[in-house]
Amino acid sequence: MRQPPLTSTASFQALAQHADVAKSWQMRDLFAEDPDRFERFSDEAAGLFLDYSKNRLDGRTLELLVGLARERGLEARRDAMFAGEKINNTENRAVLHTALRAPRGATLVVDGQEVNADIHAVLDRVKTFTDAVRSGDWLGHTGKPITDIVNIGIGGSDLGPKMVVLALRHYAHPRLRMHFVSNVDGHDMDAALAQVDPETTLFIVASKTFTTAETMMNAQTARAWFLQHAPAQLAEQALARHFVAVSTNTEAIKTFGIDPANMFPFWDWVGGRYSVWSAIGLPVALAVGFGYFKDFLAGAHELDEHFCSAPLEQNLPTLLALVGFWNRQFLDCASVSIAPYHQDLNRFPAYLQQLDMESNGKRVTRDGQPVDTPTCPAIWGECGTNGQHAYFQLLHQGTDVTPMDFIAALRPAHEMDNHHTALLANCFAQSEAFMKGKTADEVRADLQAQGLAAEEIDRLTPHKTFPGNRPSNTILMERLTPSTLGALIALYEHKTFVQGVLWDVNSFDQWGVELGKVLAKKIEAELAGEPAPGQHDSSTNGLIARARAAF
Ligand code: F6P
Repeated sequence: MRQPPLTSTASFQALAQHADVAKSWQMRDLFAEDPDRFERFSDEAAGLFLDYSKNRLDGRTLELLVGLARERGLEARRDAMFAGEKINNTENRAVLHTALRAPRGATLVVDGQEVNADIHAVLDRVKTFTDAVRSGDWLGHTGKPITDIVNIGIGGSDLGPKMVVLALRHYAHPRLRMHFVSNVDGHDMDAALAQVDPETTLFIVASKTFTTAETMMNAQTARAWFLQHAPAQLAEQALARHFVAVSTNTEAIKTFGIDPANMFPFWDWVGGRYSVWSAIGLPVALAVGFGYFKDFLAGAHELDEHFCSAPLEQNLPTLLALVGFWNRQFLDCASVSIAPYHQDLNRFPAYLQQLDMESNGKRVTRDGQPVDTPTCPAIWGECGTNGQHAYFQLLHQGTDVTPMDFIAALRPAHEMDNHHTALLANCFAQSEAFMKGKTADEVRADLQAQGLAAEEIDRLTPHKTFPGNRPSNTILMERLTPSTLGALIALYEHKTFVQGVLWDVNSFDQWGVELGKVLAKKIEAELAGEPAPGQHDSSTNGLIARARAAF
């Protein structure tokens, strides 16, 4: 059903009126007026606790936001996604990453095909293969066990497995070193190959389409490098011990020269940025073992069940989405900063960049009409405490208000308790500082107590004043485990979905990446020596000319 423009809906208009008042609220006052604010605006599910009380909202705000979600048909759209309807309407595809983490035996038919059986058949193969590599039974062509695994992929075929392998490093196999090559920049491949031995290295070529230019070039380079070190007469057998592929494109894999027996398939209803749950997660299963990989899937599934069954008012991904939407739409926040206070979640902000910005970085609705409000904010971030000593200055005192998501585990995976206490203290202190700020009067009182002269106090006070009233969410888990990590990722996936429903965009295509790809092919040929270029604008022509002169 065609959705009316967002701003024309009754709920949006009620929210806009409400926002006129809410804009003047100070969170300090909201907390002072309501001693139960933390209890009222926090909830938990699937091992995750969400505190969203440090946002500029009240009960009425939430009521109106939930009303908007209902008016936009969130529950029906969610059910359509889980049921395998083709909600990716520009590619005519179902969106079923959630099916990848459903337990064996769940029933779901897509295009006449029972997908649960297919999914678990591939998972069984992943188990057999990863068990063999991890145990040392899978041998390289000279009879040695595998020591290094190089995943070659980009975007969703890199960011997910790389982020998860790092996040779960405490569960990793001690013999297996994991490497990830994504960039077409040869320095990336060069650095990986310098660290590995062809006799003991397994390459995973991971590409949904098996046509992505960067991945194909990197895979060809790795193959050529490997063959230089393998006996020419046994090349085929040797390749089969060292190259596997993960893709939906069997034909392209055969053409590349990978034995289809070494291919782990997935399906076109798995979007690249939602694919870590599929065989794209092979590096994860290799690193942590199939048992923990299953725990990872189970954690996400638990969050899926919560998303499908909890009332919207207590539904974690929905709440996270609604609060983000409120900040974006009515409080004019153009970006969101992600601050994991956990070093092992170092790549989580980068992962969320693709998840959110490739999904909802859209300017037309599902029907191709221009949207009538801003859509996805920019997502960026860095681990705490490092970010504090870099860009937090802007977050505290800059002219833009940037909502923050703080993410922390209550218990560490190490025994340096003093470090963990300091880490959590910093995490909680930052959200307190963003909320409270420091008034000019408080600054003056401090400076007076330090004995500064009145003139000096006047001079310094504006510099030392913090406006505060800056929104943040805090997500806590007991420990960072395969299961809580699975739930955390699913939380953000569904948050992205809910926001896409509110904006009525298709969160599952990514046409915006195509133009640059086409132009790069043309310029690559020109750089490689095709007749002198000149078909571009003067800037592009000039840059090409400079590069050609340097070759
Ligand atoms: O170009 C963008 C994109 O299509 C992403 O959506 C995707 O995750 C990435 O490229 C890699 O695609 P593939 O897995 O097909 O190589």
